[in-house]
Amino acid sequence: MHFHMPTKLYFGPGEIQNLAKILVNDLKVENPVIVTDKGIVASGMVGLVAQMLPGVKVYDTIEANPKSDTINAIACDLRQIKPDLIIGLGGGSPLDAGKALALLATNPGKIEDFEGLEKYINDPLPFMAIPTTCGTGSEVTWVSVITDVSRKFKMSIKGPKMYPAVSIVDPDLIKTLPKPIIASTGLDALTHAVEAYLSKPATPITDTNALGAVQLILGAVEGAFMDIEKNHTDRENLMYGSTIAGFAFGNSDVTAVHCISESIGALYDVPHGVANSIFLPHVLAYNLPACVKKMADLARKTGFSAVDDKVSAQLFISHITALSKRLEIPVFKELNIARNQFEIIADMSVSNNSNGSNPRSLDRNDYLKILENAFDS
Ligand SMILES: [Fe+2]
Repeated sequence: MHFHMPTKLYFGPGEIQNLAKILVNDLKVENPVIVTDKGIVASGMVGLVAQMLPGVKVYDTIEANPKSDTINAIACDLRQIKPDLIIGLGGGSPLDAGKALALLATNPGKIEDFEGLEKYINDPLPFMAIPTTCGTGSEVTWVSVITDVSRKFKMSIKGPKMYPAVSIVDPDLIKTLPKPIIASTGLDALTHAVEAYLSKPATPITDTNALGAVQLILGAVEGAFMDIEKNHTDRENLMYGSTIAGFAFGNSDVTAVHCISESIGALYDVPHGVANSIFLPHVLAYNLPACVKKMADLARKTGFSAVDDKVSAQLFISHITALSKRLEIPVFKELNIARNQFEIIADMSVSNNSNGSNPRSLDRNDYLKILENAFDS
């Protein structure tokens, strides 16, 4: 058993105020750049961070499900200006984009050349993650997920040198997060924790983090959804749960829910957290026979307890379905993906790297059944 997480983590309300000090003391850098998106600029957060770093260059063109073309274009510019740190500021997309750009800043080629494990030749630039949503976990993992636009496929680019050097996780940064983003990113974090707990590579260390994350997230997500500015304990617990869910899945894996959501995200640009929320209960129902004891553990530790393990596990699944409804997550049919697309989604899901980590084996037909069940519910 091993556990690897080399990122220096600053966690707590107001930690962002220490940014300039952290850059000098921990990273000893002088020429950082910020990678973000236009929504974070509009929220005022880029302004808040940039005023602590006078003259910092900002790249704000990262889109949802970040695209290889965007990454490759920014990389050309970075190779000219030679920064000494990439700061990813935003949700999962700017953080994953920042990791990919840290790699391309020191390695020739396109991001498509680095798909897989440790394909870089030179060490990537140091990378700092500043998450502004409560779901990605990317601030404590080594993976960057980038959509290859020519293949319409989400590539995983990873390696031990791709962990953020430092992450600042400040729950105050999610104070004004819109309700749909709280719901989708909060349930993405829940999916990370649940999948990490049930995945084949889970260990006692990842289990401890996963279980803690499930408890924190389920206890906080509705309060945060109702009033994230006022419910500061829920806000902090949600962000804390999201980060330790990252510890868990970063050292075990995700499972079939992410295999489907990554396929749908690449093909139809569906927000990642929405896709996870839709498929989590259906994949759990499929997995139940293979991990009834562990699913019953999750149920009991979160207050859904019955004498029988199977009944407890079913209560847990029903709770997630009801929770998604209360958090106003759209249903599968509302994504406007036609049934005749299911075969391509199933094929892509089978070929996802995490398919083998699912606790119950799945083939193309099993994915088709899960898609049909989700569509008809
Ligand atoms: Fe995710």
